[in-house]
Amino acid sequence: MAHILIVGGAGFIGSNASRYFLDKGHDVTVVDTLELGAKENLDSRTHFLECADRDMVSRSDIGTPDYIIHLAGSSSSPMFKEDLKGSYANNILGHASVLEFAHKVGVKKVLFASSSSIYGNIGGALHEDMHVTPPNHYSVTKFTQEGLSRVFSFETGLPIVGFRFMSVYGPQEEHKGKFANLISQFVWGMQAGKSPVIYGDGSQTRDFTYVDDIVSAFEKAIQSEKAGFEIYNVGTSESYAVKDVIALINEALGTSIAPTFVPNPIGGNYILSQQSSLEKVAHELGYRPTVALRDGIARLIEIRKKTMRPYRDLSY
Ligand SMILES: NC(=O)c1ccc[n+]([C@@H]2O[C@H](COP(=O)([O-])OP(=O)(O)OC[C@H]3O[C@@H](n4cnc5c(N)ncnc54)[C@H](O)[C@@H]3O)[C@@H](O)[C@H]2O)c1
Repeated sequence: MAHILIVGGAGFIGSNASRYFLDKGHDVTVVDTLELGAKENLDSRTHFLECADRDMVSRSDIGTPDYIIHLAGSSSSPMFKEDLKGSYANNILGHASVLEFAHKVGVKKVLFASSSSIYGNIGGALHEDMHVTPPNHYSVTKFTQEGLSRVFSFETGLPIVGFRFMSVYGPQEEHKGKFANLISQFVWGMQAGKSPVIYGDGSQTRDFTYVDDIVSAFEKAIQSEKAGFEIYNVGTSESYAVKDVIALINEALGTSIAPTFVPNPIGGNYILSQQSSLEKVAHELGYRPTVALRDGIARLIEIRKKTMRPYRDLSY
């Protein structure tokens, strides 16, 4: 049994990870400012510490975790439009504070969330060793976190694993509202009979990944003996057009709601295609995705039907 600290654990991915590790018998401490995440996401077995400021691990009562899963921060590109300096500080200085804390208390490994958005519009199967030019502020901070981690690990010997998640969907994303994954927002809206709004002609693709697969990558990284610094893609290696996702949601809901197509308001930085290569993570960590898109959508809708948790707002 290990003590796992999840920074940003009241958020979408963190709360799903917490529940998984609690079910496996581990002790889970969550630190979160609740600036976006929600207490309702937390399992009652979680040891929850609210932190009041953006120095992510400033609480003195955290204890000595064996592992840190660091997911906190400004988790979406539009947030940088609302608060540029604050978002940079949160993602970069916050990341440094987590690494310093980890080194000081002697954790065995830090896992953190980078993002597939750093690939921008490279296209084709995305490999970790590709040359990237992060296309927006959010992805610049993720790329910087990677560089910071590589140097920190080299200087201190702390094992650090960064994950470039593809587009993650699943339950407990209602707190993110307009910042949530497209699938979540489409499901919430379509459950209320609202037509989903698609930018452009809907041929843009994403590698939609059910959150349980992300959590399984965390577990594989914790179990791995690999030291040093590593970056891994986590996704499904399959790519679906956004318009085809609507058909799958209609199928699962038993509805036939037509999407509304609008000119793409985002412009040149909008990502047109996304598909992960999983060669590295499969070979080095033994990661394999297990949830096909049709099944993940059906699972999410089943959970939604039971809970019907209110969501914040939609981006359309
Ligand atoms: N969801 C995705 O599709 C996706 C894809 C790629 C990368 N990521 C990354 O994964 C991580 C988790 O994403 P998520 O979807 O769960 O987002 P989320 O916004 O639901 O979770 C982030 C959590 O961090 C908390 N937080 C923010 N600043 C904090 C601080 N200074 N100290 C402590 N807590 C703080 C928020 O309150 C929130 O609970 C993020 O770093 C995000 O950038 C997510």
